Amino acid sequence: MSEQLKKFMDEKIPLLDNHFSELFNGKNYPEILHEAMAYSVNAGGKRIRPLLVLAVLQDLEVASEDAIQVAGAIELIHTYSLIHDDLPCMDDDDFRRGNPTNHIVFGEATAVLAADALQTLAFEQLATLQHTDPATMLAILKAVSIASGASGMVGGQILDMQGEGKQLSLTELEEIHIHKTGALLACCIESGALLAKVSESKMEILRTFSRHIGLAFQIKDDILDVTASTEQLGKTANKDTASEKSTYPALLGLEGAQAKLEDHHKQALDALEEIGLGSSLLARIGDYIINRNA
Ligand code: IPE
Ligand code: IPE
Ligand code: MG
Ligand code: MG
Ligand code: MG
Repeated sequence: MSEQLKKFMDEKIPLLDNHFSELFNGKNYPEILHEAMAYSVNAGGKRIRPLLVLAVLQDLEVASEDAIQVAGAIELIHTYSLIHDDLPCMDDDDFRRGNPTNHIVFGEATAVLAADALQTLAFEQLATLQHTDPATMLAILKAVSIASGASGMVGGQILDMQGEGKQLSLTELEEIHIHKTGALLACCIESGALLAKVSESKMEILRTFSRHIGLAFQIKDDILDVTASTEQLGKTANKDTASEKSTYPALLGLEGAQAKLEDHHKQALDALEEIGLGSSLLARIGDYIINRNA
């Protein structure tokens, strides 16, 4: 990882952790629900999505007092999606972020409800920004709603489930990955850019970057599933083969998947170059996404 990115993460991740502690402190939620919600959020994870929101702002040299709240909200949605993704009726995983999955600790019903509550808490957070004008706030709410719902992550998750045990075409697989993973990652960049009030032409180029980086992220996730250990990943390795998931390595082989990964990485960086962000934090997060080992 680059020094620039390491420094950024060392500074921002504690701020995010602190934000989440404040968010959960002093809330009067039913105790077990409260515990289950905080359990998955505080289990950590790489925090790539909130870091993307914050990186866009830093790269564009714009400060927003609401940045952490927006970044945190998207991480809440991501965390809810992982709790549901791990349920026995979905991927049936018992290990996540280095810990037993939510339903293993709290039971399925509580896990479902904790995830539901994390999702609505995210939208509550986006609807209560204190330092952002209403039009920007609405634009962020719209972008995050679309990216996380039936046209985005949830839509992708159903296609992923339907793709089990099938030989899909590369185009079909790309569609799954763009929706189940790419959409939420892209909306992090879009939300940061909305807070920064970028021009439509810059936004369009950032969307190109996001599309490639979103796909690259899931291709790397598929590759790590077959190449990394459970210990390294903090989640069960070799799960995709066991569930006959449609993945890049399953379709193209490991080398073919790696080539696609590098191709999307290059296209992502080319887009950033176009707007003078070739040496930006976003570019270094792009490198990290393809080089990470967890
Ligand atoms: C895992 O996401 C689920 C996918 C969309 C591939 P991450 O790899 O970002 O998981 P955490 O947040 O670090 O646990
Ligand atoms: C998950 O994809 C995408 C989500 C929307 C959560 P995976 O099912 O491959 O994620 P992991 O490998 O369990 O983290
Ligand atoms: Mg899944
Ligand atoms: Mg899964
Ligand atoms: Mg996976």
